[in-house]
Amino acid sequence: MTVTIHDLSAWKQQGRRFVMLTAYDYPTARILDAAGIPILLVGDSLGQTVLGYETTLPVTMEEMLHHTKAVSRGAKEALIVGDMPFLSYQTSLEQGIANAGRFLKEGGAHAVKVEGAQTTLTEALSELGIPVMGHLGLTPQSVRGMGGYHVQGKTEEAAHKLLGDALSLEKAGAFAVVLEGIPRDLGRTITSSLAVPTIGIGAGPETDAQVRALTDVLGLTDGRMPKFARAYVDLEEEITRAATAFRSEVEEGAFPDDAHSYH
Ligand code: KIV
Repeated sequence: MTVTIHDLSAWKQQGRRFVMLTAYDYPTARILDAAGIPILLVGDSLGQTVLGYETTLPVTMEEMLHHTKAVSRGAKEALIVGDMPFLSYQTSLEQGIANAGRFLKEGGAHAVKVEGAQTTLTEALSELGIPVMGHLGLTPQSVRGMGGYHVQGKTEEAAHKLLGDALSLEKAGAFAVVLEGIPRDLGRTITSSLAVPTIGIGAGPETDAQVRALTDVLGLTDGRMPKFARAYVDLEEEITRAATAFRSEVEEGAFPDDAHSYH
């Protein structure tokens, strides 16, 4: 049965912790879905993890939709969240609504995620029946304005502002809020202040759920593992081993053999 936004709020009430992973393509979506990952985020981290951009800023709607379609073809049960890319919603409410709608109509997503205190857009989308996941703290689309990827909410004033923004997003209808790159204490405070689930990444262990980029979990980080992440397998090593073995066997004439040939 497909996971719904109501399941997430029930899980929060039951104190049941859960996870979200990013997914960018059909095969990994299929595998993650079968592994029981309840939420797949087609994150705009796609820009860095898959497309090789320096930041998420160049990612386009077309790129996001292309990958969201692939993920939605692979997943049967997971809730699929499409991440609204930079300038797909910040320029006007109308554009935000139109682009969010594309994630559901064309991409096959069940919900969208927007960065920052986008309360007006969140309210409008929620009223239209487009579920919104908020994203506060370190918001990578604002990397230039933030002067780099720095932990947010470190002063009392900044922490107070983030808590206020989280409460406003909840009031506007957000069904969950991602908290990225904030002190552990603030992650705990916001989590206990909201009725909707918080999903942390670099926000300590007390958020209701945890999200990580799939590439971090798989050890595909190009040697740049963030402090808050952990690789559960070294896929870079595994891929290297498999590719090297294939190359050696072909070069030595050991593959393909008769058993791998048609007669
Ligand atoms: O794009 C992404 O992967 C994200 C997560 C880090 C939450 O926004």
